[in-house]
Amino acid sequence: MFSQISRQVAVQVARNFSTSSTNNFKVAVCGASGGIGQPLSLLLKVNPLVTDLALYDIVHTPGVAADLSHIDTASGVKGYVGAEQVAACLKGADLVVIPAGVPPLKALNGEKNVVECAYVESKVTEAAYFSTPLLLGKNGIEENLGLPKLNDFEKKLLDTALPELKKNINKGIEFAKK
Ligand SMILES: NC(=O)c1ccc[n+]([C@@H]2O[C@H](COP(=O)([O-])OP(=O)(O)OC[C@H]3O[C@@H](n4cnc5c(N)ncnc54)[C@H](O)[C@@H]3O)[C@@H](O)[C@H]2O)c1
Repeated sequence: MFSQISRQVAVQVARNFSTSSTNNFKVAVCGASGGIGQPLSLLLKVNPLVTDLALYDIVHTPGVAADLSHIDTASGVKGYVGAEQVAACLKGADLVVIPAGVPPLKALNGEKNVVECAYVESKVTEAAYFSTPLLLGKNGIEENLGLPKLNDFEKKLLDTALPELKKNINKGIEFAKK
């Protein structure tokens, strides 16, 4: 996950360099105080391609930002907390990463209306496995909520990705049968 995000940062920065003379690159992390958000934010703080790191969460981000500010890199870092500060956090962001969420354990413990994105066996697309929002409950998946309405650009991306995805899924299924 982290290497994918680093690659995405690199691609975005390269795009920025090609269209602009500045090398400012702001990354916003939403859910920055969590188990994924904190180490991800740390890695972004030490990434030389990032110049401005904005950390948003419903709790603790001022402290997380204060901790990361001690790492002596070129990137600035600021914490934003609560819904009223989310707009300021996202303003001017080149990349927004959202590791916010509610771990599925809560659903297994009986909490209602837990919705999570996860890569599961699926009939939503032609692919036998696909990642979509799921309504989770005590017994696992209660309902696959499917894909949201896609625009033409998103539909094209999906159609382009499906053949490769299906190939990889088949490879995995064949491997698991051995
Ligand atoms: N940790 C893993 O290995 C793993 C693997 C796959 C998927 N996930 C999923 O990724 C998500 C994050 O996992 P985690 O381990 O970091 O969980 P976590 O509970 O440690 O962190 C989640 C963070 O999101 C924040 N948050 C919740 N609602 C928010 C909101 N509305 N706005 C902003 N922030 C909000 C919480 O305050 C918390 O700091 C979860 O949904 C989890 O199910 C985690």
